[in-house]
Amino acid sequence: MPSSRSVEDLTLGGAFKGRDWIVTQEWETGEIEQLLCLSADIKRRFKRGEPTLVLPHKTIFLLFFDNSTRTRNSFEAGATQLGAHAHFISAETSQVAHGESPKDTGVILSRYGHAIAIRHDKIPGEGNRYLRDVARHADVPVINMQCDVDHPCQTLADLMTIREKLGTDLRGKRIAVSWAYTQTYAKPLSVPQGLITLMTRFGMDVVLAHPPEFRLMDDQLAHARRNAEHSGGSFHVVHEMDAAFRDADVVYPKSWGCIDLFAQPEESLALGEKYQDWICDEARMERAAPGSLYMHCLPADRGTEVTDAVIDGPHSVVYDEAENRLHTCKALMAALM
Ligand code: CP
Repeated sequence: MPSSRSVEDLTLGGAFKGRDWIVTQEWETGEIEQLLCLSADIKRRFKRGEPTLVLPHKTIFLLFFDNSTRTRNSFEAGATQLGAHAHFISAETSQVAHGESPKDTGVILSRYGHAIAIRHDKIPGEGNRYLRDVARHADVPVINMQCDVDHPCQTLADLMTIREKLGTDLRGKRIAVSWAYTQTYAKPLSVPQGLITLMTRFGMDVVLAHPPEFRLMDDQLAHARRNAEHSGGSFHVVHEMDAAFRDADVVYPKSWGCIDLFAQPEESLALGEKYQDWICDEARMERAAPGSLYMHCLPADRGTEVTDAVIDGPHSVVYDEAENRLHTCKALMAALM
């Protein structure tokens, strides 16, 4: 068992106990820094094989309306490593699918355990509202495992990875968040929205690139602009991938669906067909700064979003990024539960 001093450190002294983690925008920059420091501490202890059993006998419910590899498994493994139990619930096989209300789900799961984490990301306008409905009635923390607006567990891990590679002072570092072509499915807007709203908080120069039809939500763009003004960073939107990549220290090209066509995903994919050249390849990486990082939240569509040569090449940090999903979600559980 960790010493009582360690427990105090690993739970941030209870300062964030009971808080919801729904969008990073609702957390102070200093608080996010504290979560990142805790994530680094938890990562070091994991590498050393040191036990971090700070949540004994606690339960977190993981309610999924969509598929997952990294999110589900990092939460399940992370909960075990903290001494807790993560209980998987598929929306499809629970009474949620029969229309059970967010209130009833929130109240009842609160009485059974200590946190409720939810992935509800498929339709713009639905997921975030559902999470907030649950949170209003739950008296345990609600954690956003990806909604239509934000994917704060992903972007916390992304920020941790960028700081590990480029240092903690990110002022003046340029990140290109770009749309990329896919044939698989209309992916949520939440990762690019989470990136532009979080990275602008840390003084980065954020360039968002997408074909005109693949815009993001207006309120998230407004947050990014305001955050950049406050932090001394910058935020620009362009409609060319090459322009975004120029001199970028970090490139984060990924696909997302057309905001107006999530109810008709085939049409959203068809709309993207004319942008097949929006792929991250070696020629594009040449435009970025020397030593630039290639990032992707995964799963990546090889051959359409990115070439094998890039994702398996020297710029790629995707596996470190995916690993940091574990350390950051453990920090969140330890601090909030
Ligand atoms: N990046 C991410 O959230 O991965 P999963 O969809 O596999 O959880």
